[in-house]
Amino acid sequence: MTAPSRESPPPSADGSGSMFDNIAARYDLLNRVLSLGIDQSWRRATARALALPAGARVLDLATGTADLALRVAREAPDARIVGVDPSERMLAIGRQKVEREGLGERIELELGDAQSLRFADQSFDGVCIAFGIRNVPDRPRALREMARVTRPGGRIAILELAEPEGGLLAPLTRFHVHTVVPTLGAWLSGAQEYRYLQRSIAKFPPRAEFVRLLEGAGIEPLEMRPLTFGVCSLYVGAPRAAS
Ligand SMILES: C[S@@+](CC[C@H](N)C(=O)[O-])C[C@H]1O[C@@H](n2cnc3c(N)ncnc32)[C@H](O)[C@@H]1O
Repeated sequence: MTAPSRESPPPSADGSGSMFDNIAARYDLLNRVLSLGIDQSWRRATARALALPAGARVLDLATGTADLALRVAREAPDARIVGVDPSERMLAIGRQKVEREGLGERIELELGDAQSLRFADQSFDGVCIAFGIRNVPDRPRALREMARVTRPGGRIAILELAEPEGGLLAPLTRFHVHTVVPTLGAWLSGAQEYRYLQRSIAKFPPRAEFVRLLEGAGIEPLEMRPLTFGVCSLYVGAPRAAS
C-alpha cells in the first residue's frame, strides 16, 4: 500500500459517504471496467424484481450516482423514484445524469442515511439498494427501516457483491475480486478505497446468514438469486405482515 500523496483528501471511514465523495468522479467508469460491463444487467434484474404496479413510488437507498434509480425509471416508465445517499459528490453526479436523461420530474435525489429514514411507514411500493447494504454500519437497522417504509405486498430488492461460494469458476472470480479489482481500482482511480471494496466483500455474510438477517428485520425472503457465477446476489423480499 502506498502512502497517500499530499493532495489526497483526508482519510475517511471505510464505506462511508465521505469515502465515496473521494472516488465519486471515477466511480461510474470503474464500475463498468471492474464488472466488465455486467453491472448494468444486474441492476436491470433488480429493477424488474420489484414487480412494480402502475404509478409506483420507489425508494433507492445508497443511490450513489443514481444508476439503479435510472434503471427503475426506464423499466417502470410511470414510477417516481427517490434516491437517498450520504455522499454529496456521488449525488451531484447522479443529478447530472438524471437531468441529461430528462428524468428530473420523476427522480429526486437527496442526502440521507439508510439507517434512519425520514419517510412515513408503508409509503413505498418498492425499496431497493444496490451495492450499498455492505457499506451500512448497522445493517439490521437499515433492513428494519426498509421493511417499515415498504407497503404491505410491496417488494424489497437487495443487490450485493458476494464471495463465490463454490463452483468451477470460484477460483477465477475470487482472483478477480481479490487481485484484479483492488489493483486496477487503485491504479485507475489513484485511490486506496478499492482495497476496501475487496475487504468488504470478503467480510459480507454468506447468503444463508444474510437471509437470516432479512428475516430478523421483518422481511419475508421470497427469492435469492446468484448472478454471474455467484459474483453477485439478488435478494428479493416483502415486509412481513404484522401478526
Ligand atoms: C458502491 S456505491 C453504490 C451506488 C449505487 N447504488 C450503484 O448501484 O452504483 C455505495 C454507496 O453507499 C453509500 N452509503 C454509505 N453509507 C451509507 C448509509 N449509511 N446509508 C446509505 N448509503 C450509504 C455511499 O455513499 C455510496 O454512494
